[in-house]
Amino acid sequence: MKIAVISASKTNLEAIRQVLSGEGALARAVLLIHGGMEHLGPVADQERPDLFILDALCHGPEDLAAVEQSTSRHPSMAFIILCESQSPELLLQAMHIGVRDVLASPVSPPALLAAVERLERKTAAVAAPLHKGRVLAFIPCKGGSGATFLAANLGYMLAAEQDKKVALLDLNLQFGDASLFVSDHVPPNTLADVASNITRLDASFLASSMVEVLPNFGVLAAPEDPERAAEVKPQHIEVLLNLARAHYDYVILDIGRTLDATSVKALDHTDQIFLVLQETLPFIRDAKRLLHALHGLGYGREKIHLLINRYEKGGDIRLEDVERTLEIKVSHTIPNSFEAVSKSVNQGVPIVQVARHDPVTRALREMMDELVAGGESPKGSWLSHLLHNA
Ligand SMILES: Nc1ncnc2c1ncn2[C@@H]1O[C@H](COP(=O)(O)OP(=O)(O)O)[C@@H](O)[C@H]1O
Ligand SMILES: [Mg+2]
Repeated sequence: MKIAVISASKTNLEAIRQVLSGEGALARAVLLIHGGMEHLGPVADQERPDLFILDALCHGPEDLAAVEQSTSRHPSMAFIILCESQSPELLLQAMHIGVRDVLASPVSPPALLAAVERLERKTAAVAAPLHKGRVLAFIPCKGGSGATFLAANLGYMLAAEQDKKVALLDLNLQFGDASLFVSDHVPPNTLADVASNITRLDASFLASSMVEVLPNFGVLAAPEDPERAAEVKPQHIEVLLNLARAHYDYVILDIGRTLDATSVKALDHTDQIFLVLQETLPFIRDAKRLLHALHGLGYGREKIHLLINRYEKGGDIRLEDVERTLEIKVSHTIPNSFEAVSKSVNQGVPIVQVARHDPVTRALREMMDELVAGGESPKGSWLSHLLHNA
């Protein structure tokens, strides 16, 4: 939800900022303006926030005239007014012109948070998706391919270096470990908690269930044990992905290699599937089977991308051999880098933080740049599209 705050007081503005950057912050874009009522009209017209918070600007009913201009011009915009004195006249007048809440100023954090969350729940329930994020799925052709490592680190870099809003969802119903690759925090909730509370799932519930690795990068951990995993059903995945797509620029799925009803539901909602393998025969054999299964499920070639991890030039098997055997082009190769990757994985810290210039980091950055460029202009990918179909 996009929120604009105008306050006449710098101290109050900071207090409000803190409330909004607390619980549920991942789902908010906040614009802070220090100044007076003259900002209201221009910001309403240009920024079109979903919610306006006006602090210390209304002292009596007469100040509401300016607010009324905006409430009538933008009927879907919500307004919360914070003022020092709340006379019955002011409250009545505010109600008349369609203000949602009149609260005390300086702000009472719990009251403001409750009012904002009420609105967020409402907006999530009725609003059409604000934008459509891209859903990328990573599947290992065999355990130990590096699918989780790549998914987690690509997600982190998209958030840290491209300023994208990213959600990594660990859909490995058994033995999920994605959150551990980028954080040492205990997950507040898991996929199982989200599934069992699906009727009250909204953007702020989702955000608060995730491990917040960065303000714009959250990881939803996998269920902690197989019993809880059984609570996760395909219909939950559908609701979860629709919601996540509406609120994040990139939704990255770490999917195990078992194809079942839940993972297939996830793949139905995926824009790009990355199959991760290494260049040895057992991996190639399993890649062949997996590709066969994916084609059987009706996923077209343009959706499936081959990612060779731990690639070493001059190995026994050449890239062309892999491509010929699997009848699909290799989209990306990620080099082998035992030391840097081990360090990152063992510390639970993204590789870009422990080895900024490592070849693996560079390869991930290249892949990220291509993804971002391709996602922003559909025309940009016509060449790769042709190549994949060749
Ligand atoms: N490019 C790489 N270079 C060196 N080691 C890697 C690389 N990618 C992954 N690894 C190692 O492989 C291990 C398994 O990776 P993981 O992502 O858990 O595999 P998967 O999810 O496919 O089962 C990681 O713990 C890491 O140590
Ligand atoms: Mg894994």
